Amino acid sequence: VRSFVVIGQKANAFGDWLLDDVPGTSGRIDVLLRCVRAALLTAHGLRQDTCVYLVLEQGPRIMRIDGRTVQFLRPDERALSVLAKKVLANEVTAPSFVDVKPGIALARGGLEVALAEGPRDVFVLDERATVDIRDAALPRECDVMFVLGDHLGFSEESRRLLAALPAIGIGPTSVHADDAVAIVSNELDRRYRLVLSPRVPGAPSEP
Ligand SMILES: C[S@@+](CC[C@H](N)C(=O)[O-])C[C@H]1O[C@@H](n2cnc3c(N)ncnc32)[C@H](O)[C@@H]1O
Repeated sequence: VRSFVVIGQKANAFGDWLLDDVPGTSGRIDVLLRCVRAALLTAHGLRQDTCVYLVLEQGPRIMRIDGRTVQFLRPDERALSVLAKKVLANEVTAPSFVDVKPGIALARGGLEVALAEGPRDVFVLDERATVDIRDAALPRECDVMFVLGDHLGFSEESRRLLAALPAIGIGPTSVHADDAVAIVSNELDRRYRLVLSPRVPGAPSEP
């Protein structure tokens, strides 16, 4: 399983925002929701091998969306925003994940909850990293987790928790968080997944 953990420094943790002005009223949860789309949805489907954690440091609360079991995930931001509002309206105060919808769980707590989810190779996506993802060893069989910041980057608290973990870069330009997710997904697809058969013009189509 590949996992993405996105740290939302100011994102609203309880769903109290206006659907007609999500960027202006939600502490930029739209940045996190775009990461959900980038991580879990392809042009025509759902990545079942992928899990996304949204860390809402203002709670702190953490939402987990698991591609193996999530249902009715739509790519448009308004639909994702409606879904997040419904999820965050749940009264979950447990420090471990509670399922609130198929494939979506919520817990009280922050980044530490995601990091405690089990043995994984964890990498921090950091513009200042000296190792590039193309040179990083990412074994095919391992569960791999990538942690990234939102539009504000990493908070002091998250930097402290991540300090001992390997940092990797994805190129010389600081890109938006959802673009960072797309670049990492593409790198893993190229290495490990034959998503599309090469189409040779004129070749007979598969039965
Ligand atoms: C919009 S960027 C954060 C910019 C923020 N102003 C800062 O200075 O940290 C969002 C996140 O995407 C990831 N990211 C963006 N570009 C990257 C790069 N070139 N290499 C590694 N990670 C990157 C990082 O995790 C970053 O925190």
